[in-house]
Amino acid sequence: MKGNSKRIINVGMGIVGFVISLDGLTMPLRAHMMTTIAVHHLLHSGMAAGAGLLAMALAANLPRRDRERTWWVLPAVLAPVFGLALMWPSEYAYLMDHRWLHFLDHLGIFLCSVLAVFAAQAYVRGLGWPMLVLLVGMDAAAAGGFGVSPGPSNLLSPQASVGAAGMESSMMAGSGMSVPPNAPLHVLGQRLSQTLGCIACHHVDGTKAVGPSWRNLAGYPQKLANGATEIANYQFLTNAILYPEYLQLQGFPAGAMPTSYRAMLSGPQHTNEHQLNALIWYINSLSDRSSPATQPPVPDEPRK
Ligand code: HEC
Repeated sequence: MKGNSKRIINVGMGIVGFVISLDGLTMPLRAHMMTTIAVHHLLHSGMAAGAGLLAMALAANLPRRDRERTWWVLPAVLAPVFGLALMWPSEYAYLMDHRWLHFLDHLGIFLCSVLAVFAAQAYVRGLGWPMLVLLVGMDAAAAGGFGVSPGPSNLLSPQASVGAAGMESSMMAGSGMSVPPNAPLHVLGQRLSQTLGCIACHHVDGTKAVGPSWRNLAGYPQKLANGATEIANYQFLTNAILYPEYLQLQGFPAGAMPTSYRAMLSGPQHTNEHQLNALIWYINSLSDRSSPATQPPVPDEPRK
């Protein structure tokens, strides 16, 4: 009886783990769901947690004679290292544009997580759990920029060495413009829309250009090519800027908005998403339907 209920718990744990990790595993193939790279790394955490549960369930069925063999220590140490290496791609934009490669990357992280927890548990009973916690923690830390490649930090700035804080002002200096350090966020956003070239395609006076006008965009329903309508809230605007290839508005050519902005505006070196949020604040300032749902959360900026 006791063995039976134990088995049921194990099978349940295995199924739950598999389902959880399936979500992270297939994420790159459902890439329109993507948010920023920091959030994406948190997703790796969930995937590792699922993989770990699955591995614990599998390890419970390991025949006794195969348990506690010394050589299990080898995969237990190497698998997390390989897993970490797979989270080190410096070309985020490249991975985002090649979903099958990104899927393989996720598959690798998943398999490494399963192997690491399985091997740890097989090496010493009970060690699988701390290994699971370690993996989840490692992935979560990557969301904060730890252990991942710094990425293309010089994309925006002519001087690659300036820190995040100095980034805006040096970037503006390069273009002959200057923004006072304490300028409101929407002012920074306006300048960014000039330096990044958004205004070549987006007017702010209500007239249509290559892209839609930004006047009264935030908070208003957007007609998609497939007939659906979506309100331009914060999430919509974020996705439109970072993943334009998954946005198809009615009356606009597909693929006309560059995909290069996500590498410039998101990534571990942009964990606070300051510049992305500045652009969205600016777009908000152009709309009479701006609301908390359309505004980025900006803790350090008093709302006007
Ligand atoms: C080369 C032209 C071009 C540039 C440059 C460009 N965009 Fe776009 N943008 C477009 C087009 C075209 C669309 C419509 C996309 C579609 O329907 O596939 C669009 C859509 C958008 C939308 C959604 C608009 C709506 O009505 O729902 C936002 C927000 C946006 N762009 C922001 C930006 C920002 C911010 C920048 C600069 C960092 C930028 N764009 C640069 C062409 C451009």
